[in-house]
Amino acid sequence: MEELKIDLGVRSYSVLIGSGILAGAGKILQERGIKGRLLIVTNPTVARYYLKPLQKSLSGAGYDHGVIKIPDGESYKSLRQANRIYDALVAGEYDRKATIVALGGGVIGDLAGFAAATYMRGIGFIQVPTTLLSQVDSSIGGKTAVNHPRGKNMIGAFYQPQLVISDVATFRTLPEREFASGLAEVIKHGIILDENYFRLVSGERENLLSLDPDFLTWVVAGSCVIKARVVEEDEMETGRRAILNFGHTLGHALESVTRYEVYKHGEAIAVGMVAAARIAREHGLLQDKGLPEQLAAVFASFGLPVAVPGLSVQELMAALQVDKKVEYGKLRWVLPRRLGEVVIVDDIPAALVEQVIREMGGAK
Ligand SMILES: NC(=O)c1ccc[n+]([C@@H]2O[C@H](COP(=O)([O-])OP(=O)(O)OC[C@H]3O[C@@H](n4cnc5c(N)ncnc54)[C@H](O)[C@@H]3O)[C@@H](O)[C@H]2O)c1
Ligand SMILES: [Zn+2]
Repeated sequence: MEELKIDLGVRSYSVLIGSGILAGAGKILQERGIKGRLLIVTNPTVARYYLKPLQKSLSGAGYDHGVIKIPDGESYKSLRQANRIYDALVAGEYDRKATIVALGGGVIGDLAGFAAATYMRGIGFIQVPTTLLSQVDSSIGGKTAVNHPRGKNMIGAFYQPQLVISDVATFRTLPEREFASGLAEVIKHGIILDENYFRLVSGERENLLSLDPDFLTWVVAGSCVIKARVVEEDEMETGRRAILNFGHTLGHALESVTRYEVYKHGEAIAVGMVAAARIAREHGLLQDKGLPEQLAAVFASFGLPVAVPGLSVQELMAALQVDKKVEYGKLRWVLPRRLGEVVIVDDIPAALVEQVIREMGGAK
């Protein structure tokens, strides 16, 4: 088991990563001095595989705990479901010493975290992420949120967990597309800050796809280290944390014009990362001229999309404008200079973006 410390002063916490560690969660909590009652927030899909082992372990360690199941899906990352969690907490007479345990992917983590941040002005929060994306991305960094009908993650809070328990054995039941979607964020971490990590991950396709436990533990830990470094520098995203949004400018636009029905998040940002690399090249920023093709080949090898066939250029351009990263009327792009280094740029001409989208298959 790997242990990684996220250093955020009084809000510091540990991320534990290993294979099969979920079944030892009770002991882990005990060792770390977690006290009080627990409410597990999960969904039926994840509960089917992992709720019983988690409950058994918690009961074995003497933890009194309840369970609430949220229906599976992004549309349930809502205030309405947050309300159901509050109701369960109130009905169960959970006090300020209680802790919410999020068991699931990023949807459950974001929703449960938001409930933990707001119930009685903040109670305990532990993440047990079960998707690759949630282990390498959403479970660390403290962003919690629910969606508003008019926009994703519009209502939320920065709220760090006390502990993250990432069991890489949970990927055995994860659908392939979800795994690949998480890999897009993994590869993103390499591109923005660590060329060596990028090369090791993209070169070890077999070990990844065969879910080798030791290699997966190393991959998840490596991504968490990179994300942690960025978050430690800029917890509230006033500046540098924005580099984590590499690939997300066009990625969000793609998700939005397709109403979140066509692309998984990682798929959309894979396209977005290739687009960003092309924009960087056209803008004269890219030192390594072959990077767009190199990225496209790596993503394609994991079954991730690298083009926008048939999508309307106009619609995508309009969606880019409403992206919340439009600041003071300017669209912010995170662009690569070379593997392991990105810069934030806000003076990319719309015509250049249009040209790149067209080259990537966008239609009139
Ligand atoms: N807070 C952050 O910093 C942050 C960062 C990135 C993404 N997010 C959020 O995360 C969400 C996406 O998270 P996600 O990609 O984990 O999606 P998800 O939570 O919807 O999980 C994907 C699917 O896999 C299922 N699942 C989860 N674990 C499983 C397992 N081990 N075996 C089988 N099925 C399993 C889920 O039930 C779901 O159907 C979005 O809402 C996004 O906004 C948040
Ligand atoms: Zn993302």
